[in-house]
Amino acid sequence: MPAIPHIPDNAPFTPAQRAWLNGFLAGMYSRDQPTAQPPTATRNVAVLYASQTGTSERLAKKIAKELKLKGHTARVTSLESYAPTALATEQCALILASTYGEGDPPDHARLFFDQLCTDQAPRLDQLDYALLALGDSHYEHFCKFGVDLDSRLETLGAKRLCPTVTCDVDVDEPFEAWKSELLTRLSAATSAPPTPVIAPVVPTAPISLYHRKNPFLATLIDKRSLTHNISSKQTIHLSFSLDTSGLDYEAGDALAVLPSNDPCLVSDILEHAQLSGSEPLALPNSDRQTLAEALTHRLQITRLSRKLIEAFARAGACTTLLSLLKPEQQSHLDQYMHDRGLIDLILEHPGVVTSAQQLVDLLPQLAPRLYSISSSPRSHAGEVHATVAVVRYRSHNRERGGVCSTLFADRTAIGEKLPIYIQHNKKFRLPLDSATPIIMIGPGTGIAPFRAFLHERRATSATGRNWLFFGERSAETDFLYREELEQMTASGLLTRLDTAFSRDQAHKIYVQDRMIEQGAELFRWLEQGATLYVCGDATYMAKDVDAALHRILEQHGSLSPEAARDFVSNLHDSNRYQRDVY
Ligand SMILES: Cc1cc2nc3c(=O)[nH]c(=O)nc-3n(C[C@H](O)[C@H](O)[C@H](O)COP(=O)(O)OP(=O)(O)OC[C@H]3O[C@@H](n4cnc5c(N)ncnc54)[C@H](O)[C@@H]3O)c2cc1C
Ligand SMILES: NC(=O)c1ccc[n+]([C@@H]2O[C@H](COP(=O)([O-])OP(=O)(O)OC[C@H]3O[C@@H](n4cnc5c(N)ncnc54)[C@H](OP(=O)(O)O)[C@@H]3O)[C@@H](O)[C@H]2O)c1
Ligand SMILES: Cc1cc2nc3c(=O)[nH]c(=O)nc-3n(C[C@H](O)[C@H](O)[C@H](O)COP(=O)(O)O)c2cc1C
Repeated sequence: MPAIPHIPDNAPFTPAQRAWLNGFLAGMYSRDQPTAQPPTATRNVAVLYASQTGTSERLAKKIAKELKLKGHTARVTSLESYAPTALATEQCALILASTYGEGDPPDHARLFFDQLCTDQAPRLDQLDYALLALGDSHYEHFCKFGVDLDSRLETLGAKRLCPTVTCDVDVDEPFEAWKSELLTRLSAATSAPPTPVIAPVVPTAPISLYHRKNPFLATLIDKRSLTHNISSKQTIHLSFSLDTSGLDYEAGDALAVLPSNDPCLVSDILEHAQLSGSEPLALPNSDRQTLAEALTHRLQITRLSRKLIEAFARAGACTTLLSLLKPEQQSHLDQYMHDRGLIDLILEHPGVVTSAQQLVDLLPQLAPRLYSISSSPRSHAGEVHATVAVVRYRSHNRERGGVCSTLFADRTAIGEKLPIYIQHNKKFRLPLDSATPIIMIGPGTGIAPFRAFLHERRATSATGRNWLFFGERSAETDFLYREELEQMTASGLLTRLDTAFSRDQAHKIYVQDRMIEQGAELFRWLEQGATLYVCGDATYMAKDVDAALHRILEQHGSLSPEAARDFVSNLHDSNRYQRDVY
């Protein structure tokens, strides 16, 4: 057996990175050995995923690798390029499904799920399956797509290999539990004779050293306001140095940041819960921490969820909260949760929190925040930029702030470091053919990836035409990147720039109004093969822009509503309608 390479202590890595690399190398080298335990049974497994920002794709690849090491055959496929009829030919499928929108599939899995839900969907009596549903319980429809898919598969006759597991933000632990249960059941469920296999050498895709569990500490090298100080909102531009990290990204990717809470809010919570903060805790997968450290760096304290309110209400037998949890009270519960946080529960129900550990057990993990990257690696080498709307509001007699956006705005100075990693987004990319025209709809911070696209197209001398629709409240105070965009227009890089300043006149004007005004030209660009991109608010803007697109197709393409729907579906399917909405 060849010696396992070892990263020496003086190599330019942090201890955590060195330990990770040494573990990785040890794993790889021991895998190469033909002495690996032969598996007892093998299966041909389709590993399917429905992902938007890459988490379920990453887990799908991880489980496929382990299946192969156990001698099974595993093929990883996105549901984007998979049809229910193909599922009818599988014996065994593992599905990792993330939820978006209002409990919907990710954009790319929409067609698969729509087809699976029709009367023409095939019976799946031959299929054994296991499902991991990814989501975030702060959303009203927690893991709904995964749950709906699970029940549809069952209706069509497929049999569950192991119980469906839901992951709430922190995916790694439930994934490991699901995987180990599944691998046990998979081996047990097959009657195929053991195949004498040598554990295959798995070709390794380049794996980033930096991820959620091992973020890179990036130095903030620039921070400036993009809005005027008399504006009704605050949007800031940030640049981080990637230094010698080796982190790379493409225009269209997102920057993930592991935020920390405002220490003043943590102090308030501790004071009202009558805890000191110095109480030691044992948290899973972490060194010992004090309560104050956990509340600052690891736990979500600013948002409420049904799960948290339920646990809190039960712990304190709070009758008002318990009655809010009744199904018929959902709208009142939503209203209650909308602008309150943990501090409000503690103030309104004193005495419920009795110990540090009880408080910690109630709270979910603090999730990373994503920001569409607004730089191009070719134009801004060694840097990554973000464009951030700072969340501030007042409710229940308290000034409140978004955790991460106020961390950037108020609690991080130039020269300080924040933990980051890159969240790749292969579904939001410039066209491969650089001559393809692009139409970008990006109001507010939705401008971010389009600044990246434009810099990228300039750096690569792309010949395709570029059309940007930008919207904000007021031209005087909120015209983000005004000089840059005007310079790009003057240089001809931006073929067209259409702006919609919503509050500069008596009635609101939005980007979709400008699209409709320019409908004939927009339709011509689409006919000429343009790719259409939308970025920004998902709740209202993206839906209204979608409706405007249908209207333009009907009006200027003389299409019926059904034909316009098909046109848009085709745009989606051919990656000519890409959305990065939040
Ligand atoms: C793929 C992706 C890309 C993104 N790109 C960007 C980007 O480029 N730029 C950007 O700024 N953001 C972007 N976001 C959003 C970003 O990730 C954060 O969600 C955002 O910055 C808020 O995070 P926060 O920690 O500051 O606020 P949080 O602590 O998460 O608080 C936000 C919450 O505060 C509450 N809230 C906010 N306003 C009010 C109000 N007026 N009244 C009551 N409650 C309120 C709401 O519950 C809201 O969900 C992106 C998100 C995704 C998923
Ligand atoms: N709490 C806060 O202080 C705060 C502030 C800003 C943003 N946010 C949130 O942060 C997210 C991103 O905000 P952002 O700064 O990128 O910008 P944004 O809030 O999405 O606003 C950008 C522009 O889009 C307009 N707009 C509003 N509704 C629209 C619709 N249905 N269709 C098209 N355009 C519409 C806005 O107009 P009008 O605003 O004039 O309607 C504004 O001109 C949003 O989800 C928003 O809810 C919170
Ligand atoms: C814009 C947006 C909408 C979301 N909507 C939901 C939702 O309705 N229900 C839910 O459980 N999770 C929701 N989530 C959380 C994602 O499902 C979760 O972060 C998941 O891990 C993402 O997986 P992916 O990286 O594979 O796309 C949403 C996330 C985003 C960014």
